[in-house]
Amino acid sequence: MHFVVLMGGPGAGKGTQARLLQAALGLPQVASGDLFREHFANNTELGKLARRYVDRGDLVPDEVTIAMIKERLSRLDNAGGAILDGFPRTIAQAEDLDLLLANMNERISVVPYIHVDSDILLKRLAGRWTCRAEGHVYHDFFSPPKMPGICDVDGSELYQRDDDTEETQRRRIDVYFRQTAPLLDYYREKELLVEIDGERSIDDIQRDLVEVIRSVA
Ligand code: AP5
Ligand code: MG
Repeated sequence: MHFVVLMGGPGAGKGTQARLLQAALGLPQVASGDLFREHFANNTELGKLARRYVDRGDLVPDEVTIAMIKERLSRLDNAGGAILDGFPRTIAQAEDLDLLLANMNERISVVPYIHVDSDILLKRLAGRWTCRAEGHVYHDFFSPPKMPGICDVDGSELYQRDDDTEETQRRRIDVYFRQTAPLLDYYREKELLVEIDGERSIDDIQRDLVEVIRSVA
């Protein structure tokens, strides 16, 4: 099994790349942000609890997030592993993930870090559109859909996320540098971190990611 942890700031392209990797390698994308948004759509208790954190751009408390991921990983069946997108985001989450995987006799294969400067992160978030049905991502300039407002893949409506206001975007980037960036050292020390230049085309980044993941497979 292969467990890949995709790291990168808000707007670095984790979701974009995780979806492509899912298609290229057959590993399912497990995205904590998407799971929270599913809970919002289904109006669950967990969703109600998480909403105020997500809307502000703050991290949802570790115990809630870890429980949600644990439940998702328990349903992987014979998927062959997963591409983790947006989880872990704190040292406590990373330590719990190590334990969770150890209980499954598994470990993280590699941690690609998609590196993008914060001014570019803001530009990417500002023009982002997300598909209502499956979370496919587009951008006004960098990756426009064929028909404005419609997903190329499944024809569903494109919307702008509630946490994509300028204020919340800045907050998310700030929270990322304060709370999540320390994880880079955590994985560097374990010799799992591989830095990828994220300020290139989506295709070039994807090519590097596939190569990095295949090299540990
Ligand atoms: P989450 O949904 O994970 O948001 P995020 O980390 O802020 O990351 P994004 O989804 O905004 O960016 P991305 O890297 O996926 O970029 P994308 O591919 O969309 O989390 C949302 C919230 O949930 C958090 O704020 C928090 O509250 C909560 N949460 C989630 N996980 C949590 C956890 N573990 N613990 C606690 N709380 C948690 O790309 C962005 C744009 O750029 C798109 O428009 C895309 O088309 C474009 N683009 C992508 N790649 C390129 C490229 N190479 N060149 C040009 N444009 C590109
Ligand atoms: Mg994302």
